[in-house]
Amino acid sequence: MKKVRIAVLCSGGGTNLQAILDAQAAGKISHGEVVLVVADSLGAFALERAKRCGVETAVFDKKQFPRTEREAAILACLKAHGTELIVLAGFMTVLSADFVKEYEGRILNIHPALLPSFGGVGMYGLHVHEAVLARGVKVTGATVHFVTEECDGGPIIAQKAVRVHAHDTPEKLQQRVMREAEWVIYPKAIEKVCKGLK
Ligand code: GRF
Repeated sequence: MKKVRIAVLCSGGGTNLQAILDAQAAGKISHGEVVLVVADSLGAFALERAKRCGVETAVFDKKQFPRTEREAAILACLKAHGTELIVLAGFMTVLSADFVKEYEGRILNIHPALLPSFGGVGMYGLHVHEAVLARGVKVTGATVHFVTEECDGGPIIAQKAVRVHAHDTPEKLQQRVMREAEWVIYPKAIEKVCKGLK
């Protein structure tokens, strides 16, 4: 069976990438295959993770490429690798409308909260968990969604709730959301989408 060719785009630690690669190695992602990892930062540890798993990597560093050129280079690279599905995993560049149009319905993202709450411009990384704690909600979680022009606004594919504890710090909450929700639902959602694309 021909598998959906997946490219994962990262900027940082790459724990979601690791969860995806582990799920693939365990046979839990069988309708798709990660063929490429792209980073927008030379220092992204995600690159190391990809190399350890024998996955090809490409870097288009923010410091070297202005935004428009970087995006064009990434798009060309994705196409050269026959990418059919783009998975954003902690990728800190907001994609332009033109880019999204090129891969309409074939770009996924994970957000560390239950959208539509705590999403949108400026809601990334620890800011999300800080906002969750400041608002005093008792349940947060993670959301996998299709990427559209609207930041964090695309159709939702999967969500999982996580309890907020009384003495949480943003850092503690971030870790719990990753462990209990992100690393669990992202591989499953990817498999589901790949199955649908076949
Ligand atoms: C995750 O919290 C994800 O939800 C968000 O960025 C973070 C990436 O972490 N989009 P990692 O690089 O996968 O460890």
